[in-house]
Amino acid sequence: MQPASPRVVLITGASSGIGKACAEHLQRRGYRVYGTSRRAAPLPPEPGPGLCMIAMDVTSEVSVRQAVDLVLAREGRIDVVVNNAGWGIAGSVEDTSIAEAQEQLDTNFFGVLRVCQAVLPTLRRQGSGTLVNISSMGGLVAIPFQGLYSASKFAVEGMTESLRMELRPYGVKVAMIEPGDFRTGFTAERRMAAAAAEGPYKQALCIAVTVMEKDEQGGATPEAIAWRLEKIINAREPKLRYLVGPLAQRFAVGVLKKLLPQRWFERMIAGYYKIA
Ligand SMILES: NC(=O)c1ccc[n+]([C@@H]2O[C@H](COP(=O)([O-])OP(=O)(O)OC[C@H]3O[C@@H](n4cnc5c(N)ncnc54)[C@H](OP(=O)(O)O)[C@@H]3O)[C@@H](O)[C@H]2O)c1
Repeated sequence: MQPASPRVVLITGASSGIGKACAEHLQRRGYRVYGTSRRAAPLPPEPGPGLCMIAMDVTSEVSVRQAVDLVLAREGRIDVVVNNAGWGIAGSVEDTSIAEAQEQLDTNFFGVLRVCQAVLPTLRRQGSGTLVNISSMGGLVAIPFQGLYSASKFAVEGMTESLRMELRPYGVKVAMIEPGDFRTGFTAERRMAAAAAEGPYKQALCIAVTVMEKDEQGGATPEAIAWRLEKIINAREPKLRYLVGPLAQRFAVGVLKKLLPQRWFERMIAGYYKIA
C-alpha cells in the first residue's frame, strides 16, 4: 500500500555525481528526499522544501544508524532506499594490498550491507518499500586493473539477488542499476593501489586507466540514471537489473558477454584496454 503523502527517499552519496542527480531529480518530482554525505552537518535544520542533506559515513555502523534514525524520527517511514555511495580503486590484483582491498569493500559492499541492515526492519514492518542498489557494469564484467572494484560490485550483485527473494514475501521490492561510464566525481576520486605505481604492471596500468578516465569523462552526465530510478521505484514489479549507459557498453555487457565464448570476450575487453 502506498502512502498518500510524498514518498520518503534515502539516497547515500548524494553530494556528487549519480547520487546527487538522483536526489535532485526526485526532489523536483515531489518526493521527500534525504541525501547523505560524510561532509553534511551532523544535525541538519528541520526539513524545508529543498533537499535535506544528512551526515552518513557508510563505513561506520554508528553513523549509518544515526542517519537512518534521524530520517525515521522526522518522517516515521522510509519508502525508497538507494545505496549509491562508492568509489573505485585501480591497480593490479597483485599490487593491491589487503588493507586497500578491505577499504574498497568496506565502502562499496559492507556499506551497502550496513545500510540494508539499518533500514530493512522498517521496510519489512511497513510491508512496502523499494531498495535500489547502484552496482556497475563492472559488477557483471571485470576489466583489467579494476579487479578489486569489480569484486566489490560482484559482491553487491550476489547479495542483491538473495535480498530480492528474501524480501518479496514482505512486499519490499529490490532492484539494481548497473551504470556504464558517466561523467561524475568518480574519476577524480579514483584511488591507485600504492604499490601499483612502481609495480611490474606499471605501464599497462597507466594505459588502461587512461582509457577508463577518457570514457568516464567523455560520458554523459548522470540524469538518465535519475529518470531510470524514478521508473524503477514506480514499477509494480521492477526487474532485478537495469543496465544504463552508452549503447556499445550495454551491448557488450548485456549481449556479447552472454553470446561469445569467454576467451573471445576476454580478448575483446583486454584489447579495448590495450593490454592484449
Ligand atoms: N561514474 C561512473 O561511471 C559509474 C559507473 C558505474 C557505477 N558507478 C557507481 O555509482 C556510485 C556513485 O558514484 P559516482 O560516479 O556518482 O561518484 P562520485 O561523484 O564520486 O560520488 C560518490 C558519492 O559517494 C559518497 N561516498 C564515498 N565514500 C563514502 C562513504 N564512505 N560514506 C558515505 N558516502 C560516501 C560521496 O560523498 P561524500 O564524499 O560527500 O561523503 C559521493 O556523494 C558508486 O557506487 C559507483 O561505484 C559509477
